[in-house]
Amino acid sequence: MDRPLSRLAAALAALLVSATAAAGDAATPAGAAPASAEDSAEGSTENRRLIERGRYLARIAACNDCHTPNYAASGGQVPEKDWLVGDRLGWRGPWGTTYPANLRLALMKLSEEDWLRNARTLTYRPPMPWFMLRDMSDEDLRALYRFVRALGPAGEPAPAWVPPGIEPGGMVVVFPSPPQ
Ligand code: HEC
Repeated sequence: MDRPLSRLAAALAALLVSATAAAGDAATPAGAAPASAEDSAEGSTENRRLIERGRYLARIAACNDCHTPNYAASGGQVPEKDWLVGDRLGWRGPWGTTYPANLRLALMKLSEEDWLRNARTLTYRPPMPWFMLRDMSDEDLRALYRFVRALGPAGEPAPAWVPPGIEPGGMVVVFPSPPQ
C-alpha cells in the first residue's frame, strides 16, 4: 500500500485497513493508525456509504460555501483536507457579526446522538441556515457527521460572535438591515 501523503489519505487508509482487518488480515501499515477507536470499528460498507453521502452533502448542501475559507469565491477549488475548518470572514447584520464555525473541531466534541439532537433543537444566528439541519433526514445528518469525523480535526476555532453595535476586527460581508 502507498504511504499516505496527507491526513485524508491516512483516514481513508485507516478505513481500508479496518475493512481488511474485518476480512481477517490485521496488518496495519506504519502511519495509518485509525483516527479514533470509533473509526476503526466503522470500516463497514454501510459506514463507507454514509461517508460518501456526507462528502456529497458537504458539496451540495452549501456547508462548504461558508464553513470552508475561499470555497465559494474559488468555485469550489479547495482541497478536501481543508474543508469545513471555519472562516475568519465575518457576516455582519442586525444580529451582530457571526463567523462560520470550525466543524472539524466542533463535531469532535459531539457524539452522533448529540449531533442529531442539536440539529433538531438548536438555532443559530444568521446567516447559518440552521433550518436546513433541522429539516434534514436522520440518515443525512449521520452522513455529514461521519464524513466530517473521517476528515479528522483541523484548523483553529472560528472567532467568537461580535454583538450588534460593536465594530468587528477583520473582513466582513455586510448584510443590508431589514426595511424599517
Ligand atoms: C450562509 C453561510 C452558512 C452556510 C451555507 C452554512 N453555515 Fe453553518 N454556520 C454559519 C455561521 C455564520 C455560523 C455561526 C452562527 C452563530 O454564531 O450563531 C454557523 C454555525 C454552524 C454550526 C454551529 C457550530 C457550533 O458548534 O457553534 C453548525 C453545526 C453548522 N453551522 C453546520 C452547518 C452545516 C452542516 C451546513 C451545511 C448543511 C452549514 N452549516 C451551512 C454559516 C453558514
